[in-house]
Amino acid sequence: MINQKKISFEVTIYDSFIELKNDDQKLLSVAVKARQRAYAPYSSFNVGASVLLENGEIIEGNNQENASYPSGLCAERVAVFYAGAKYPGVKIKAIAITAASLNHEVNEPAAPCGNCRQAISEYEFRQKEPIRILLMGETGSVIECNSLADLLPLGFNSSFLN
Ligand code: THU
Repeated sequence: MINQKKISFEVTIYDSFIELKNDDQKLLSVAVKARQRAYAPYSSFNVGASVLLENGEIIEGNNQENASYPSGLCAERVAVFYAGAKYPGVKIKAIAITAASLNHEVNEPAAPCGNCRQAISEYEFRQKEPIRILLMGETGSVIECNSLADLLPLGFNSSFLN
């Protein structure tokens, strides 16, 4: 027997930053500030990420590039790894991500790369509670996803290792 199944998910799209709730504006603003401190001399593509923890703390990260290109790291992983290092076991409520380029205006939400989705999914799977994701470029709309799992359908997690 062959079954076909559609996997889909819902997002909320805000026309602009100012339509977000105050707390989400605050979280994204932290990501924007982090973005402005990115170290991205090779790509000129600056990314900032802010992680809201259930203890109320906000942890920031930005992309850190390297002359040996693969040795750099994306903003999202810098942020979630720092959160895991500083507050081990504290749940992540939300992550805001924003990108800007020195070469063109990023006027649509920047989506996390596959490696970052996998890295964030480790935390979501472990905490058994969804992590909300806010995505923004420099200008334009903001996309809100309800869960990282939505962005990584048929994802791999530790349950396969047991
Ligand atoms: N980058 C991120 O920081 N996050 C992503 O999800 C996509 C890409 C960074 C990596 C690299 O420093 C630059 O953006 C260009 O790929």
